[in-house]
Amino acid sequence: MGIEPVAPEAERAPRADAPVAPRTPASELDAAPAPAFALDVAPAPASALDAAPAPASALDAAPAPASALAPASDPPPTSVSDRAPTSAPDGVPRPFPAQLQVGSPVGPTAAAVMEPVRAACLAEYEALATGVLSGAVSDFISGGSGAELTLRANRSALDRVRITPRVMAGAERADPASRLVGTAAAMPVAVAPMAYQRLVHPEGELELARAAAAAGVPYVVSTLSSYPLEKIPGECWFQLYWLRDRRQVEALVDRAAGCSALVVTVDVPVMGRRLRDVRNGFALPDDVVAANLETTREAHAAVPGLSAVAAHTASAFSPTVSWEDLEWLKNRTEFPLVVKGILDPRDAKRAVDVGASAVVVSNHGGRQLDGAIASIDALPGVVDAVGNEIDVLMDSGIRSGTDVLKALAVGASGVLVGRPLLWALAVDACDEALGLLRTELTDAMLLAGCADLAAVKELSWRNDG
Ligand SMILES: Cc1cc2nc3c(=O)[nH]c(=O)nc-3n(C[C@H](O)[C@H](O)[C@H](O)COP(=O)(O)O)c2cc1C
Repeated sequence: MGIEPVAPEAERAPRADAPVAPRTPASELDAAPAPAFALDVAPAPASALDAAPAPASALDAAPAPASALAPASDPPPTSVSDRAPTSAPDGVPRPFPAQLQVGSPVGPTAAAVMEPVRAACLAEYEALATGVLSGAVSDFISGGSGAELTLRANRSALDRVRITPRVMAGAERADPASRLVGTAAAMPVAVAPMAYQRLVHPEGELELARAAAAAGVPYVVSTLSSYPLEKIPGECWFQLYWLRDRRQVEALVDRAAGCSALVVTVDVPVMGRRLRDVRNGFALPDDVVAANLETTREAHAAVPGLSAVAAHTASAFSPTVSWEDLEWLKNRTEFPLVVKGILDPRDAKRAVDVGASAVVVSNHGGRQLDGAIASIDALPGVVDAVGNEIDVLMDSGIRSGTDVLKALAVGASGVLVGRPLLWALAVDACDEALGLLRTELTDAMLLAGCADLAAVKELSWRNDG
């Protein structure tokens, strides 16, 4: 099953086979009330609301999304904003960071000009999410391992890539339609597997996967998803962590039969030392569990100076997963196999040898080996080694449509986007975020003189380091 090539947004209809709510236009989202769970914990001061009234008609027309309304029996995670946004000097939480208020209160249009925008670009969801999440959950998402050298290198390396634009593409619109690992996608983007999405939103994976399906991009379900994989809507790939118990691996692969690819993550023999989590003694709240696994007891046991999530990983994941295991898996299943966490071209060749359909050039968003090469810097070597044989996807540090364009120009077939979409989920803005990313990508394509992705692949680039 592939994702339908997607029409321009205004014409796009929801997929018949996916329980997808219609996309809310950005203008309505701007005017819509903040989700119930965010307001519950971070009420806007009356004065702030007075300064930016939403027109009554717009509010009537834009009810809170269903996803924001947690059922009474399903309380919001305790982890969503148990801390007031630190930016409020008077101790009164603000709904949005001050720097995201636009315009100045001058003249008769002041009220309209002062309406808060949610985000002008994908990268801004980080600041918005930081305003509503607890410090420990923010750190769990944003943090990297060790001194966070690789986390920072992912960004600085992407910033150093320079594109030489072409001109006069002769097209009014750019078309980012793509195929990723045999799946038709509206743009060359998939949602990266990310654990425990209920940490940031009561409907977690259900909501982000719904938005991915509406945007026409594949959603990768983590082994550590906080909803069972069978409940997740839309076009899904399943991400597998190799568990110590081979029977559990088999059971998970069988349960993933409805997915269209199997992504095996191979860069977590042990969890990288994420010092923010260690310092916070990070543990999962009771209502956030690894719903696909039999037990996550250790992940909930808060111990000062230890990451409970790392302790759980150590007890559940096998550090000895091997190429032979992947070969065994490949022979046992019809799924296209994607190997995630490859940085060395020699490993990419091994992945081809075991029958993989794709690799993901990834350093896990700087969360594993601190000091590992930035993914975008590792990409050319892997593309040279295997790019003619299999798809080469890339992740770690993608924060904009321009970054997607760069990754494609350097040789990737597509990218996985991680944290920005989790930050958007935290402020209930997944549709908006995926729409922004598409707009950023198509704008970048036109500015680079590319009407389609074939032209993007022909762009010249250099590393400005
Ligand atoms: C909070 C969080 C949870 C993650 N959980 C998983 C996971 O369960 N499985 C996995 O393969 N990768 C996981 N990753 C790594 C992502 O799939 C991806 O490689 C990384 O986030 C890409 O970097 P970016 O966030 O800079 O885009 C996680 C990343 C984050 C930030």
